[in-house]
Amino acid sequence: MTSLETSPTPGLLPWLELCSWCGVSLVDSRRGRFCGRRCRQAAWRLRRRSDPGVPPSAGPGRRFAYADPPYVGLSKRYYRNESDYRGEVDHPALIASLVAGGFAGWALSASSRSLATLLPLCPRSARVCAWVKPGGVPPATYGLHGRWEALIVVGGRKRRPGVGDWLLAQPARGWGTLPGRKPVAFCAWLFRCLGMIPGDELVDLFPGTGAVGRAWRELSSRDLPTTRRVAARSATAAAS
Ligand SMILES: C[S@@+](CC[C@H](N)C(=O)[O-])C[C@H]1O[C@@H](n2cnc3c(N)ncnc32)[C@H](O)[C@@H]1O
Ligand SMILES: [Zn+2]
Repeated sequence: MTSLETSPTPGLLPWLELCSWCGVSLVDSRRGRFCGRRCRQAAWRLRRRSDPGVPPSAGPGRRFAYADPPYVGLSKRYYRNESDYRGEVDHPALIASLVAGGFAGWALSASSRSLATLLPLCPRSARVCAWVKPGGVPPATYGLHGRWEALIVVGGRKRRPGVGDWLLAQPARGWGTLPGRKPVAFCAWLFRCLGMIPGDELVDLFPGTGAVGRAWRELSSRDLPTTRRVAARSATAAAS
């Protein structure tokens, strides 16, 4: 189990000063709101990748969902030793629950090769976006070798300026070893694809390391006035 999984969630224990990124207890909070350089840089990279002109939500905020399940047919191979492993995910049921969930927008990560199976289950308005990974193909492979992952996006808030439907970014480095954990650049792009703004709620259905929820908490709560910031952090903590 990593320190990420054992650390207290920011906002749950208001009398403790916690790192705004990873949630560990701060030894000396006078040195800032992060426990060290790694967390401070992760938050900085996230902000650099996000939309600087994004306004806080004028109303109570809208609900969005992100589903990052084990990709079709790969659950046992990559996750059989994880504590949250539940076998192969029922993708038709997952997509049906996203459609029926009343979300302002939702996104589903998937392998490019599973699109033929998944897209017929999605609304016709679904958009397919691509997270492309730089780098070549290992010489020992045959034929087509996947170098991108799909992000199926349904609904969302349409904001100006628009956002590109593809991202070029390296896989996550550090922050544990869970296969398929998402890097900061992906998180920032996901939120822009959905048109999310501070004050919105993110339901992260397959949290894994918690990277995506942590990124949204950081981006969302810091731009809110103090009282709403505290409420947003507590609500996110209670939901996670
Ligand atoms: C792709 S990872 C999520 C990564 C996460 N977005 C992150 O950035 O850390 C999928 C997660 O779902 C878990 N999982 C495996 N089988 C599952 C199942 N049948 N139902 C729910 N979760 C499952 C895995 O153990 C893993 O934690
Ligand atoms: Zn930290």
